[in-house]
Amino acid sequence: MNNLLQVEDDSRNALTARQYLDQRIDEFRVDRWQNEWRGQHIMRGRSPGASSVRLISNDYLSIAGHPEIVSAQIDALKATSESVLMSGVFLHGQTPQKQLECRFADWAGMPEAILSQSGYAANVGLLQAISGPGVPVYIDMHAHASLWDGIQSAGAEAHPWRHNDISHLRRQITAHGPGVVCVDSVYSTNGSVCKLAETVGMAKLMGCLVIVDESHSLGTHGPSGAGMVAGQGLTGDVDFITASLAKAFAGRAGLIMCPVGFSDYFWFTARPAIFSSCLLPHEISALDKTLDVVIRDEWRRESLHKNADIVRRGLADLGYNVDASKSQIIALESGLEYDTLCLRQAMEANDIFGSVFCAPATPKKRSLLRLSINASMSMNEIGKLLKACEDVRDQVGMWEWSSTRRKSASGQTTMLRTIC
Ligand SMILES: Cc1ncc(COP(=O)(O)O)c(C=O)c1O
Repeated sequence: MNNLLQVEDDSRNALTARQYLDQRIDEFRVDRWQNEWRGQHIMRGRSPGASSVRLISNDYLSIAGHPEIVSAQIDALKATSESVLMSGVFLHGQTPQKQLECRFADWAGMPEAILSQSGYAANVGLLQAISGPGVPVYIDMHAHASLWDGIQSAGAEAHPWRHNDISHLRRQITAHGPGVVCVDSVYSTNGSVCKLAETVGMAKLMGCLVIVDESHSLGTHGPSGAGMVAGQGLTGDVDFITASLAKAFAGRAGLIMCPVGFSDYFWFTARPAIFSSCLLPHEISALDKTLDVVIRDEWRRESLHKNADIVRRGLADLGYNVDASKSQIIALESGLEYDTLCLRQAMEANDIFGSVFCAPATPKKRSLLRLSINASMSMNEIGKLLKACEDVRDQVGMWEWSSTRRKSASGQTTMLRTIC
């Protein structure tokens, strides 16, 4: 759409490439920064200090910096003299990467696994490998951007279906034929959870392949953290599970779990796998040790889910609409971007740090502050978070947010407000 050579200004004069770029930068500076954010930056505020409650990172199991993982990484750095600065397509034999891939596959109960440089690369590469022009891909409207970008880069047809609306999925497949169904197990903006059994059942009934992105459930859900698909006994029905290992695994990698025989084909088809270099030995060692810790430390999962439950219930009691969240991701949906900027500032003034999500990560008028709960949050920190949310709600106009009005339309908040 934005083909440089076809771009023209209002007077129909062709722009030079430099003018075109300047115009786009100006649009960002003027339309968003100056006008919408009123000269302040929606993301940039105070930096967290030692006593701050940090809910920005997706290190859900509080594993980053774990001494066993750090040692494994250091040992690998010291031990390795062999250079693997190359594409993974050149790896063969029983390499440490291959061995770790087998461990991941066994753990999740899937036939094969492939490690990639990131969750983004995993999803894009996978969609390039399994779809293409003329292939319908049915994607939940809330699914992660990397799945959408994968469909686009494969040249496949995206057919979005309304979030978790299985009858809409059925109508879309009936209209366009069998293809690929894409969902996230846990949706990254507001923590809603996929109706996995119903989605997978419908996809299979209609002759489709299924991809489940488990970035926000691998390590945190299921038996020994093996994920939500495993936890719901759906492993045999799901064709592909992908994940970012930059969440509960606190690393810098991605994962695809796939049917038998798929990985050899993938390494000759998926462009991020072929044309970008592979993981380094110390990254593989760290992930291998992290997998030990994730499997072993059940208490981290228990603590995470207990903390998330307390925060969700506390926020709901305060009148915040957190109904969508069924997981460790909880969103305060302030709506307009300027309202989200004010919310972030008010929370930071109370020493609470969450992540701003705005366009293009959310629709324009549904920006939010995301709170990623973690296993090591103390009761003191939870108390501090809820107190801050109580103290700021009038100041930030919480009762007027459209998310709050949606909730009061269903009758719940009005009662709460009367009680409070
Ligand atoms: C659901 C989901 N899939 C994929 C990704 C991409 O992962 P990575 O950061 O490893 O590229 C993310 C990260 O934001 C995500 O939330």
